[in-house]
Amino acid sequence: MTQRNRRHGAAPGPRAGTTAVVTGGARGFGKAFGTALAGEGAAVVLIDIDAAAVEQTATDIRHSGGSATGFAGDVTDEAAMNAIMGRAAAVHGGIDILINNAGLHSDEYSKPIREMGPAKTRRLFEVNVVGVIACTLAAQPHMVHRAGASIVNIASAAAHLGGTAYGTSKLAVAGLTITFARELGADGIRVNAISPGMIFTDTIRAELPDAVQQRVKAMQFIDTDGAEADVVEAMLYLTSDRARFITGETLRVTGGMASGT
Ligand SMILES: NC(=O)c1ccc[n+]([C@@H]2O[C@H](COP(=O)([O-])OP(=O)(O)OC[C@H]3O[C@@H](n4cnc5c(N)ncnc54)[C@H](O)[C@@H]3O)[C@@H](O)[C@H]2O)c1
Repeated sequence: MTQRNRRHGAAPGPRAGTTAVVTGGARGFGKAFGTALAGEGAAVVLIDIDAAAVEQTATDIRHSGGSATGFAGDVTDEAAMNAIMGRAAAVHGGIDILINNAGLHSDEYSKPIREMGPAKTRRLFEVNVVGVIACTLAAQPHMVHRAGASIVNIASAAAHLGGTAYGTSKLAVAGLTITFARELGADGIRVNAISPGMIFTDTIRAELPDAVQQRVKAMQFIDTDGAEADVVEAMLYLTSDRARFITGETLRVTGGMASGT
């Protein structure tokens, strides 16, 4: 165990001595990513706009033996992201992994543009697209030439289907993944994305009407329900040395949905 780990009490594991930042880390995928990375020994830094929830999630991870710190912040706020990444790097000695997960995808932000109007559509693109840019630029100086440095952006199967502003924002995330992979390659930083399909989180089970669930399921090649663990596995793979030659890719975790496009 490294000096850095002893100091911050991170659990031993394959990621002992590494630091992982997860945006949108208070709940859903972000919480699952943070919990999994902390379980492998990383010191986890969670950022979320929901101050109370991010603090609670960090506390939960610490209670289960991991190292986690919660920061309240909006991913579109460049100055705040620079300050948080700077603090995380000062405490832990650098940043090894960044998961750009924060995103708007509730019903409210999944409507046609004519219904959402310009203000909501702008906010959708600011969080889902500009947020990825702001966090990547803020983390990059602290990731340069660290062994295994890696960024994973969370896009969506909706990116490959077309037809919604949400999907278009996620198509931009897939595009930015290639752009940043090219720009940050010289710094030794790999950049990949995951496009999750229909993943049966508590929110999806509760909010997505049965008829829509059936329709989406029928688009899959295999008759399997997607689970949070499937997306977590993809993230653990892409951020590991097993994926050391993979950069600029978007991995669809969809059961085949949207693979034909
Ligand atoms: N759940 C799915 O089935 C699914 C499928 C495809 C893609 N995704 C994508 O995965 C990501 C996470 O999805 P989820 O289901 O866990 O979502 P969620 O809504 O459960 O959690 C998102 C988190 O991001 C935070 N957040 C929102 N705006 C923020 C901002 N401006 N700054 C900081 N934090 C902010 C929220 O407070 C929340 O804690 C999103 O980018 C989403 O678009 C989800």
